[in-house]
Amino acid sequence: MDRPLGITVSRHILDSQHIHPQATGELSSLLIELIVAAKTISAEVNMAGLADILGMSGKMNIQGEHVQKLDEFANNTIKRRMARCGYISVMTSEEEADAIPVAEGYEGKYTLAFDPLDGSSNIDVNVSIGTIFSIHRALNGGTPGSENDLLQKGSEQVAAGYIIYGSSSMLVYSTGEGVHGFTLDPSVGEFYLSHPDIKMPHKSKYFSVNEGNYHYWDDPVRNYIEYLKETDKKTGRPYSGRYIGSLVADFHRNLIAGGIFLYPRDNKNPAKKTGKLRLLYEAAPLAFIAEQASGRAITDECQDILDIEPYDLHQRVPLIIGCKHDVDMVQEFLAGKK
Ligand code: AHG
Ligand code: MN
Ligand code: MN
Repeated sequence: MDRPLGITVSRHILDSQHIHPQATGELSSLLIELIVAAKTISAEVNMAGLADILGMSGKMNIQGEHVQKLDEFANNTIKRRMARCGYISVMTSEEEADAIPVAEGYEGKYTLAFDPLDGSSNIDVNVSIGTIFSIHRALNGGTPGSENDLLQKGSEQVAAGYIIYGSSSMLVYSTGEGVHGFTLDPSVGEFYLSHPDIKMPHKSKYFSVNEGNYHYWDDPVRNYIEYLKETDKKTGRPYSGRYIGSLVADFHRNLIAGGIFLYPRDNKNPAKKTGKLRLLYEAAPLAFIAEQASGRAITDECQDILDIEPYDLHQRVPLIIGCKHDVDMVQEFLAGKK
């Protein structure tokens, strides 16, 4: 009995392109190039324990964080491939202070923002990590792009997604027509459609937050987490706590099983006074996915993540993201109504 013919991600992207007669195929080709980079990273991540690629590179990045060898490998893999893909005009990466130009003569009509490897603190302990990406239309496609092309609202994204390198490698992406998940068959080197049209459950069963920061949060956030821990069978409380410390892994669990993730501002640490997570290549792409999957994403000032007008490539935002029922509930606490 032949296995059903799996739908590859390339097939899925091209099929969704055909829905738009005016589509030129450039976004499809961009995504397919990015997926080749992701497969390269996935292979390296899975061999990290054997290759000499665990541990620190000895360098610091713009965030003031130690750069892991795998961070650097992932960053270079994406940068080198996308600089000559011909579909983008400028890039920004968590690992680079400034906007990254593409190769001369290869300027395309889109822009790319990416976190080459999210969850770096988990690399050496073999916990799931991932790559997050966000794509916008360049302001003047086909010409060399600049920082202004990258500082666009999340609601203007044309595509976003992530690849999670875990028990299996999965690609989850959206071009604004729902969220679709693909699982890598490493023996073939292909991503096959495994989770068509993903929708977040309306209500969570997990909450995901680093409670080590409890004393640094504002009262409404503390009150909300205490509320989740109270027993009330009618409202399905207490919720279970799950925190991996890789945003992409915590988000993926919540997307599939139902959960709410919070990384609030930290009132004691100047580096995290507006939260820890970066808007352009962490919060905005995942907010795009969340909303496409019927979830929500807001700041602790109740602003929709996708409505934030960026002012800096690496600006940080407090992030509350997950099932709509739960984000709405947090909003009640933040507005002092609970
Ligand atoms: P990155 O590895 O790209 O720097 O991202 C790490 C982020 C995110 O993945 C995770 O949710 C968060 O850092 C964990 O922060 P804490 O260790 O402070 O909880
Ligand atoms: Mn990250
Ligand atoms: Mn990272």
